[in-house]
Amino acid sequence: MKQQNQDSNALPLPQDHRFLIDEEHGRMERFLRDLYDTCAELEAEGGEHKVASCQGRLNSFLYDFLDIISEHFENEERLMEACLAVQEDKDYFRRHRAAHEKLAHQVKILMRETAELSKQGSTTLAIRHLYQQIGVMFGEHSREYDNFL
Ligand SMILES: [Fe+2]
Ligand SMILES: [Fe+2]
Repeated sequence: MKQQNQDSNALPLPQDHRFLIDEEHGRMERFLRDLYDTCAELEAEGGEHKVASCQGRLNSFLYDFLDIISEHFENEERLMEACLAVQEDKDYFRRHRAAHEKLAHQVKILMRETAELSKQGSTTLAIRHLYQQIGVMFGEHSREYDNFL
């Protein structure tokens, strides 16, 4: 949801660009939610092979999610870059791009932690941790940057 800009930390994009970005955010959220729901169901059913299947799902998720995230950051930056008009916009763009870089780094660390937890046999815990942390990290990023596009 777009918020009112409070401190001129904004780069208003054309509606169609904003729509594309919102769609990508929605796709990332669904991708993560699917993993969470599938593994919650598998956990409820119980059994050895369900755990293994959940582990498999998590591994392929970790593999794909980093790609999806970097692709999204690239797209968002490309759309922003096309709309830079005044110096203030350029400063905002640079800050936003640096925030993406930092976020990508944090996500990589989280992925490693998650894979490690899962390898130790706590796949359900690993997925909960991943789900919660991604929510915190991306929620913060949205409040600071994406909500002002
Ligand atoms: Fe962003
Ligand atoms: Fe974004």
